[in-house]
Amino acid sequence: MFPLASRMELVSESITLKVSAKANALKKAGVDVVGFGAGEPDFDTPAFIKEAAKQALDKGQTKYTPTPSIVELKQSIAEKFNRENNLPYKPDQITVGAGGKHCLYMAFMAILNPGDEVLIPSPYWVSYPEQVKLAGGVNKYIAGEEKNDFKITPQQLERAITAKSKVLVLNSPSNPGGHAYEPNELKALADVVAKHPNLVVFADEIYEKLVYGGLKFVSFATLHPQLLEQTLTFNCHSKSFAMTGWRVGYIGGPKPAIDAINKLQSQMTSHITSFCQMPAAIALNDPKGAESIEQMRREFEKRGAHMHKRLSELPKVTCVRPRGAFYCFPNIGAYLGKKAGGVDITDAVSFSAALLEQNHVAVVPGNDSGFDNHVRLSFATSMEQIDKGIDRIAEFLKKIS
Ligand SMILES: Cc1ncc(COP(=O)(O)O)c(C=O)c1O
Repeated sequence: MFPLASRMELVSESITLKVSAKANALKKAGVDVVGFGAGEPDFDTPAFIKEAAKQALDKGQTKYTPTPSIVELKQSIAEKFNRENNLPYKPDQITVGAGGKHCLYMAFMAILNPGDEVLIPSPYWVSYPEQVKLAGGVNKYIAGEEKNDFKITPQQLERAITAKSKVLVLNSPSNPGGHAYEPNELKALADVVAKHPNLVVFADEIYEKLVYGGLKFVSFATLHPQLLEQTLTFNCHSKSFAMTGWRVGYIGGPKPAIDAINKLQSQMTSHITSFCQMPAAIALNDPKGAESIEQMRREFEKRGAHMHKRLSELPKVTCVRPRGAFYCFPNIGAYLGKKAGGVDITDAVSFSAALLEQNHVAVVPGNDSGFDNHVRLSFATSMEQIDKGIDRIAEFLKKIS
């Protein structure tokens, strides 16, 4: 046995990765798998951003930079927050990390003491609980209900807050639920938070640009005068600019929190890749960026509506209509406790494994998101693939008895 740190026992093995490893193995063996697992846009990074990266390399932007990023990027993010989100952050209230994930991890590390509670509405993005555990915190889930489109109520939030509650994570639009709060619903949660001045909110707004059905996105920290002091706002280039591989994420928040995160990052990664910084700055403030986002958003809106319609027509399957991000999260609970082709279907993991094995469709089980009777399907794929995959799911469901 290699002598690993005991903290490694805190982190769970990802069930999701097991399913995607199996899907990849099948694909490699020549099987035609329909993949609904992807958590990233199927579009390419816009050409003007790639061009800016080539120029950054040619100009020799290949050396160390300041930890929170070059001045131009901090400035560009501050302008974006002010212009688009009505958030009056100054450049020294901004830091940049290696994607939204790394930003969240650094923030948990900078803010949690051992035993501090973190309130997480479910269904939740798989990495929150694992990051909280690594930072010594304790996860406390607030159960979103399907009948309420997975959105928690102000009463639920009020009931969940205790003297030990340090952080509330709010992710709207949401992965994996596909739900998003209306401004008035978010305002009602903001009013509860404002009554608890020691509670810090992590507003994960990385899907802000991908909203559907006329939903108006508002930034959480704008909803009550006190919240600017209580909120860290997280965003990234990954989903809006189809830049998942570039690893650019950023945080806006009160200066003492940003300073602490910078101190941490200065001893971890130093800063993000130097030649990704100028293109990231240009992406946020060039009108071409907004145009490419809107093009992608419109396409996702069509696909999401279509996938939702097809899933809702499947017998005994229910599905909340996606209002944001690029996921449907249908309830397949009616098929649990049965068999498919001789295999026991006990939860979303066995459902997903049998669906992949028998009908060659890859979906993500909801277990890691707190829902073992739901699966996640990404509509970041073509209409043809959506139809082909859901036809196969229909065939699979027919077999289950
Ligand atoms: C809700 C949520 N937050 C944060 C992230 C992390 O994004 P990034 O790829 O920029 O690390 C993801 C990625 O899937 C996500 O879905």
